[in-house]
Amino acid sequence: MAQDIEHAPTPHGEQAPSSSMVIFGAGGDLTKRLLMPALYNLARTGLLPAQFALVGLDRIEQTDQQYRDHVEAAIRAFAADKHYSQAIDEPSLQRLLGSIVYMQADFSSPAAYQALGERLTQLKGSHGVGDSVMFYLAVGARFFGPITDQLGAAGLVTETPDYWRRVVVEKPFGHDLPSAQALNAQLRNSLSESQIYRMDHFLGKETVQNIMLMRFANGIFEPLWNRDHIDHVQITVAETVGVEARAAFYETTGAMRDMVPNHVFQLLALTAMESPASFDADAVRNEKTKVLDSVHAVDPATDSVRGQYAAGARDGKAPKAYANEDGVASGSSTETYVALKLGVDNWRWAGVPFYLRTGKSMTKRQSEIVIQFKRPPLSLFRNTATDALTPNALVIKLQPDEGAMLSFGAKIPGPKIAIGQVHMDFHYKDYFQNAPSTGYETLIYDCMIGDATLFQRSDSVMAGWRIVQPVQQYWAGGKAPLAHYAAGSDGPAEADDLLKASGRAWREL
Ligand code: BG6
Repeated sequence: MAQDIEHAPTPHGEQAPSSSMVIFGAGGDLTKRLLMPALYNLARTGLLPAQFALVGLDRIEQTDQQYRDHVEAAIRAFAADKHYSQAIDEPSLQRLLGSIVYMQADFSSPAAYQALGERLTQLKGSHGVGDSVMFYLAVGARFFGPITDQLGAAGLVTETPDYWRRVVVEKPFGHDLPSAQALNAQLRNSLSESQIYRMDHFLGKETVQNIMLMRFANGIFEPLWNRDHIDHVQITVAETVGVEARAAFYETTGAMRDMVPNHVFQLLALTAMESPASFDADAVRNEKTKVLDSVHAVDPATDSVRGQYAAGARDGKAPKAYANEDGVASGSSTETYVALKLGVDNWRWAGVPFYLRTGKSMTKRQSEIVIQFKRPPLSLFRNTATDALTPNALVIKLQPDEGAMLSFGAKIPGPKIAIGQVHMDFHYKDYFQNAPSTGYETLIYDCMIGDATLFQRSDSVMAGWRIVQPVQQYWAGGKAPLAHYAAGSDGPAEADDLLKASGRAWREL
């Protein structure tokens, strides 16, 4: 097992230090849609290392120039698609393209790693890069272990105090607790914990990082952020996309594994964590893990709902049922929607339910966290019962309309005392210029400078799997009915029942 070796981190905002990056899965969709545009954005903002080399590895045979052409097309399409007002910065694009070389490789062959080692040595001469290397595994999860074993056997992940070797693994990290533990043990054969950067791209989103800022850089929220003032919390990650072309992956994954132990639990942890002692990677990750460790064991029979979208309607179109999507097995019971009720057993949150939901093919793409406050203790207004007063809510809007909203009651003008609900609404776009971003820029840059704060540590990954484990087992036992919801709706009625019993309701999407 490799030992942790400390490397002085580069301060945030400074150009990343000289290094190479190796992408396994260089021809894949993730590389094309997210990694390359993110690297271009880093070049554009001056954060990409001055001495930088990128090695793309994949199975198909092509020349360096053919691969560069492919990358260039992807970046131009991305800029035209997502940031049409932003003209391509040609010098930055050319600088990135000039750093790229391509290697055809069979990931299971030791010879490929030998050749990779030789190529990395050559790049020191041709590109002036040092010995530090980031290996990015943009490949199917089944390759994470074998590739890392090969990197270890070829001596490519051995560090010294003068240079680092880091491995970024995409999600999913395992498909349940035992497989995540086994994968972790396999990675740890060749790598120390500090060399493993477990990706959860939600943590790269500005609005997700802002949850911590909002809570800990302001004086007004934190005194209210507890069981004395909060009635319950809702976390929603709703998507309009269906399974698209990913049935092969999704059929064996489902909404729970795809979204909950990772993205949704990261939102839960950021919302519920205690203030860290500092914004140091381990201080933040200790607090997040503590929250997940405090989650009360879920009773799957009463506190979980799984759903699958049926045919429906959205925006004048008629989206298909999941069962009729290409590549979906007939009679598939894969869930495309999950709702859970959780409790966090600590002094801050005892008795406060956390309701979580995520689903595909819903009415709207909307991710948000709702902090629902308690009602006032009594009503001073004649004819208005306390329980008729709408409770205050703080809605942290993560995407697509990024911002925050506070709702409260105000007097409706006129001779009668009547209360209307009003909103204080903050939109990011009104205050800050949105830099073109895929969300991966921060994470790639943080890995280059050695800041692991926004990456998942193994204990938090395991804590996530531990929470969902009983639900996965219960569902696998065939005891939980699969609720159907119309594509283009807010989700199945059964999910409403999770809250209805206690007189609560989901915020409408
Ligand atoms: C991915 C999931 O991790 O996150 C996808 O595999 C999901 O199924 C996606 O659509 C959502 O991310 P974003 O950034 O589009 O909200």
